[in-house]
This record gives sequence, structure tokens and C-alpha cells, in this order.
Amino acid sequence: MLLDGRTALITGAAQGIGLAIAETFVANGARVLIADLNRERLDEACQKLGDDTTVRGVLCDVVSPPEVDAAILAALDAFGSLDVMVNNAGITRDATMRKMTEEDFDQVVGVHLKGCWNGTRLAGSVMRERGSGSIINMSSLSGKVGMVGQTNYSAAKAGIVGLSKAAAKELAHHGVRVNAIQPGLIRTAMTEAMPQRAWDEKMAEIPMRRAGEPREVAGVALFLASDLSSYVTGTVQEVTGGRFM
Ligand code: NAI
Repeated sequence: MLLDGRTALITGAAQGIGLAIAETFVANGARVLIADLNRERLDEACQKLGDDTTVRGVLCDVVSPPEVDAAILAALDAFGSLDVMVNNAGITRDATMRKMTEEDFDQVVGVHLKGCWNGTRLAGSVMRERGSGSIINMSSLSGKVGMVGQTNYSAAKAGIVGLSKAAAKELAHHGVRVNAIQPGLIRTAMTEAMPQRAWDEKMAEIPMRRAGEPREVAGVALFLASDLSSYVTGTVQEVTGGRFM
């Protein structure tokens, strides 16, 4: 029970990687508040995860500072503390630069980069007062190497690395750690929408010769959330099966 008595807020956790992180955290003793845009999936996820002494859901658009603030207050109200913040919500609007619209760019940078900044800044201000906390920001391998059709997403995910390192330096002496995770190809709704040819091309780049599962990202999030990583801050953890190492 690595997270016994701790409270975690996870954004974009109605499905996919965020939901797997919520499951792993609950299984390790945490109380979890999941924040997402999708009301129906949010309700289903809460029912699946446990009763309201352990799990609560809140509708939240991570682009909006007041909504992120309200989610943090909901966690404090429901469970009395905020020990772990996972900024995981995400979208894709892939297109080559020739075809990408300004709106595609702004939306993706908004959800990922501004969403992460909102979550890091607002959770950080609560955690620094208490003198402890762990913030985990979901980057992507796309932010490390850049991927065709993802000038918006690669920019946002690279930006999350800079944001996490700068925040880690600002918060380290307050007892708050900030780290990023860079998953590679993980089997979720986001990647299953991909054409088979694109999927096969990516598979060929992976030394472990398989896609990752959401619970394999959740295991790394658990490490970063818990005291197992008490001297780890400002790092980027790759969860990629060795792809683009
Ligand atoms: P997903 O599409 O399955 O889930 C994303 C969740 O975020 C959804 O529940 C959605 O409703 C929510 N969401 C979207 N916009 C939101 C907003 N503005 N406010 C609140 N919630 C919002 O995606 P998946 O695959 O689980 O991805 C989770 C994170 O991991 C994302 O940041 C993604 O970029 C990142 N990632 C995923 C990889 C993969 O292979 N699946 C690889 C690398 C990074």
C-alpha cells in the first residue's frame, strides 16, 4: 500500500492511461478524485473504481484555471489533502503543417501545455504550504523526437518537459517533486483510432516488439507518486519498450 492515506487528483482519468493510474493508485491505498470533460465516462469510471469514500469524480476542463482550482478544492473537501497531482488529460488533432489549422494548434497546446501549467501551478501552491507533494505531468515520446503530423502535439509535449523541470526547481525546497512521463505507443482509444499501416510502422520501431498497456504507465506513475521516488525530481521517465532510447 504505497499510497496509504494519500489523496490524488488525476485529470483525463475517465478512460485510458488516466483510468489505469486511478485503478493502480486505489489498489495502493489512495483516495482519488478523477477530473474529466466526459460526464458519462466519468460516472462509469467512478462506479468501477470504488465507493465515494475512496473515489469522486468532477467535471473539469483543464484549460480553465477556475475549473482546475474547483477540482483541487473538491479533492481537499472530500478527502482533506492533496498529495499527488497527475496532469494527464489530452487530445490529438493530427495533420501535417500544410493542413493543420490554427485552431488544431491552439486546442492541442491549450489542453496539454496550458492544462499542465494550470494543474502544476495550482496544485503546487497547495502542496508547498503543506511542505510535501508529487506532481506528475504526462508528456510523450512525440515531445522527445517530434513526429510527422504532430507539430502541435510534439510542441506541447516538449513544452511539458521544460515546464516540469522549471517547476521542479521552483518547488524542490518546499518538499514538492515534479516529474514527467513520456509514454511511447500505448494501447488506448487515442492510439486505436490510428490506421493499421501507421500502427505497424510504429511497432517496427519498438525493440520490445509490442505496444505498452495503460497499467505499465500506471506503474511508473505509482513509483513517482510514492516515497519510493523521494529523491527523484525534474526527471523524464520513458515508458516505451525501448523505442527511440
Ligand atoms: P484517451 O483519449 O484515452 O483519454 C484522454 C482523456 O482525457 C479522456 O477521458 C478525455 O475526455 C480527457 N480530456 C480531454 N480533454 C480534456 C480536457 N480539456 N479537460 C479534461 N479532460 C480532458 O487518451 P490516453 O491515450 O489515455 O492518453 C492520456 C495521456 O497520455 C494524454 O496526455 C496523452 O497525450 C498521453 N500519451 C498517450 C500515449 C498513447 O499511446 N496512448 C502516448 C504518449 C502520451
